[in-house]
Amino acid sequence: MALRPPFRLLPYAPDVPFPTRDLDPWIMDAPHPEQEPERDGPAFRMIPHGGNLAEAARAYGAPAAGWLDLSTGINAVPYPVPALPDRVWRALPQADAEGRLCDAARSAYGVAPQAGVVAAPGTQALIQLLPLLIEAGPVAILSPTYGEHAHVWRRSGCPVRPVTGLLETGDARVIVAVNPNNPDGSRREPEALLAATAGMRAAGGLLVVDEAFADVVPGISLAGAAAEPGLVVLRSFGKFFGLAGLRLGFALGPPVLADRLQAMLGPWAVSGPALHIGAAALADHAWIEAARRDLARRAGRLDRMLAAAGLSVAGGTTLFRLVESDQAAAVHDHLARAGIWTRRFHDHPRRLRFGVPGSDRDFERVEQALRTGPGAAGA
Ligand SMILES: Cc1ncc(COP(=O)(O)O)c(C=O)c1O
Repeated sequence: MALRPPFRLLPYAPDVPFPTRDLDPWIMDAPHPEQEPERDGPAFRMIPHGGNLAEAARAYGAPAAGWLDLSTGINAVPYPVPALPDRVWRALPQADAEGRLCDAARSAYGVAPQAGVVAAPGTQALIQLLPLLIEAGPVAILSPTYGEHAHVWRRSGCPVRPVTGLLETGDARVIVAVNPNNPDGSRREPEALLAATAGMRAAGGLLVVDEAFADVVPGISLAGAAAEPGLVVLRSFGKFFGLAGLRLGFALGPPVLADRLQAMLGPWAVSGPALHIGAAALADHAWIEAARRDLARRAGRLDRMLAAAGLSVAGGTTLFRLVESDQAAAVHDHLARAGIWTRRFHDHPRRLRFGVPGSDRDFERVEQALRTGPGAAGA
């Protein structure tokens, strides 16, 4: 099968309006002249993620009690989905419903009034569009982190450099920070991110701040600064609200960038049900506050169980916990045999990520399995 050549990229200049009537130059059939990724190479393959229960079943068979999936950072106690009128399923998604959703997101996230808010079918869809916002150049990614960022920039032909601090970003044209980070939960002060990248952004560079897990640490969000030139903030809806299957996420940024993303997403990118459910959830401040408290309580309970099993938590957020242990592989295997699926990292074999269980029953299942696991007293 002939694969589509990589897109050639239009330069991004912060004050040049997006050419909405002239989209053709965005999609060129000629490959990028210098840095064309190999067509059959790793850049064009899927990378592994949590939530891959089919893989779990292939390796371990189907557990009698069903899988308890702790391999993601998705809230196990989701927002209660309201009943939807028939027309929401039947009609095309409506502009006024999208407006209500974006207003609710603006208010819930505290977005700067001058910034644009773009709704998308998950932040992953937005991450894949980011390389089309800016002329190709070196990309520095605060690492290790969510693997899709490096993957999409590499696929677009950009040299990608994993860095551990903002002082190492050098001549990068694009800097990507996941804040708080997945999987270690490390946090960057929003002011430090803005200050450290001011020169790069002023020169037409791009700072991408992926706040997929920031709902549980709202104080670190850059949403209030999202009108700053060359800044794009990503907010995932599915994780905190526990509705990842709905596929909903947002980009917040200066209007010129928001308009470009909106145009690239095209019409009806977000389903009618997602527009309605998202608007209701983001406006439900009482649920949001209660969910933050409940997640903190449940994450604490999980930490105590892990500690009792001799596993110390090295980081995380209240949506997931990261264990570092010489026993990580053995614990993962032991739990999988008990039908509990956690997330391993092949490039960090001592790491094991745990999502936070939702119900007492699920906590008890984890506790029981940990009690007989590797390293546990009496195992
Ligand atoms: C840091 C981070 N960003 C973005 C995503 C994509 O989330 P979604 O497309 O569901 O909004 C994930 C998913 O795991 C993630 O961990």
